[in-house]
Amino acid sequence: MSGNAHLSPIGIIGGTALAELAGLEQAQQMHPETGFGAPSGPLVSGRFAGRDVTFLMRHGRGHAIPPHAINYRANIQALADAGVKQVIAIAAVGGIHPDMPAGSLVIPDQIIDYSWGRAHSFWEGDGAMLHVDFTQPYSESLRRSLIDAAQTLDLPVVDRGVHGVTQGPRLETAAEVDRMERDGCDIVGMTGMPEASLAREAGLEYACCAVVVNQAAGRGEAAIHAEIEHTLADGMRRVAKLLERVLGTL
Ligand code: HPA
Repeated sequence: MSGNAHLSPIGIIGGTALAELAGLEQAQQMHPETGFGAPSGPLVSGRFAGRDVTFLMRHGRGHAIPPHAINYRANIQALADAGVKQVIAIAAVGGIHPDMPAGSLVIPDQIIDYSWGRAHSFWEGDGAMLHVDFTQPYSESLRRSLIDAAQTLDLPVVDRGVHGVTQGPRLETAAEVDRMERDGCDIVGMTGMPEASLAREAGLEYACCAVVVNQAAGRGEAAIHAEIEHTLADGMRRVAKLLERVLGTL
């Protein structure tokens, strides 16, 4: 066993803003089944930046699974079964707050859940009632690690933000985003929940690194596809650098 190989693997959930983890060494694929079904795709385990990492693509191969159809329970259960204790989730989002324009990296600290109809709990009434504390939905220590790692890289990140999670797959109306802004949302995505609360139910530390790829509906000019693609590609490069740096500190 070398170095910190005895530590539990870090789970990384890649989304639209991180479709693969380039540089994952000795990668091995696992195809687990869980009591909740199969996760979105294989768990890819390997070494990255000196740590054991287990990587899962939230939307599956070829981005085939839309936000409302993701089996969030199977994804979180499969990571927990693989021995993961800490999860860093990468997500593409729209920017609502003017300080979070396209291209920003945001480490959100709060969530408002507007999604519906998703299997959002491991508890199905067949055991002890489970009301997990979710006052602070993200792990503050994992958030701090991400923010500190960004600082050492001179990589600008917004160190807080309220992550509004909509059902999708359609984008929001301008009035919906107005309401979200009144509610206090800073960014809007479609996959942050129930991923975060399931991670809490499973006892995993969980934080999110959000890449703002467009301004939310009714905020400025609608971005054209080519611009979003460019922002996404650039965001992915910065996220990969951030992951490389933060993993060395966990
Ligand atoms: N809304 C919801 N989800 C998103 C957006 C958006 O504007 N951009 C990227 N994911």
